[in-house]
Amino acid sequence: MSVDQYAVFGNPIKHSRSPQIHESFAEQSGEAIEYHKQCVDVDGFNDAVKQFFAASGKGLNITVPFKLEAYELADTLTKRARQAGAVNTLALQSDGTIVGDNTDGVGMVRDITEHLVWPIKGKRVLILGAGGAVRGVLGPVLEQCPASVVIANRTASKAASLAKAFDGDCRVVGCGYEALEGFAFDLIINGTSASLAGDLPPLSAQLLAPGARCYDMMYGSEATVFMRWAGEHGAITADGLGMLVGQAAESFALWRGVTPAVKPVIAAIRQQLA
Ligand code: ATR
Repeated sequence: MSVDQYAVFGNPIKHSRSPQIHESFAEQSGEAIEYHKQCVDVDGFNDAVKQFFAASGKGLNITVPFKLEAYELADTLTKRARQAGAVNTLALQSDGTIVGDNTDGVGMVRDITEHLVWPIKGKRVLILGAGGAVRGVLGPVLEQCPASVVIANRTASKAASLAKAFDGDCRVVGCGYEALEGFAFDLIINGTSASLAGDLPPLSAQLLAPGARCYDMMYGSEATVFMRWAGEHGAITADGLGMLVGQAAESFALWRGVTPAVKPVIAAIRQQLA
């Protein structure tokens, strides 16, 4: 009998850690799967997906730049994929249809709540940025329904319209950085791409409530600019490596019905990064 096939599609894909992560999950849980990475032509996403599932592929992870195309391609969408407006996981159903999910937000929230802030309920949360990365995680963050969530962004209007799209049972507002003056938060999540340019949004140390935690959705071999800023002002910090492994664990659970342990996998990658 052939082994169930899984893959990650992206472009570029060379540095993807997804095969390593899923192979660790498979080994740990005794699930027999094969997982590879595939660099897909920017104009060839739909064909590549069709080919993969026609050749008895069972599930895909989708990364940059195809998350919106995957959203369009899926036959059905989970609630969190609809909220995110993007898909990072495709799974073949028993009736032959393909469901699109987005596990980024739930992976991040689980990482934050298990390793950084617990309980999260009632906490004051500030999210920096209002682009695709933030939209991708906002639904699961709001599901935790802390006292209130503020989204701050360089372009204030983008934060305001994102907040408006999500405002419901949980109070969420969007604004520019200047409007944060006088407020303090228990948890600040950086979802901007500023640190890619070695940049930092204009933040005042007064934003950090006593004992504040700061989470950067990015990760690397060193602390990000945002983490260094937070650490210098006494906050406890974490990077997004746990989110990377956490979103993969949620995909694995969707495909295989088994939720793998993330801690040993995070530790192994952390060691490789050092
Ligand atoms: P992604 O998919 O990574 O979210 P994006 O949709 O382009 O990428 O969003 C990037 C986010 O980082 C935006 O919120 C952007 O702010 P603007 O909406 O004002 O552009 C934010 N960002 C990027 N560079 C920044 C910088 N140097 N300072 C502050 N915010 C920055």
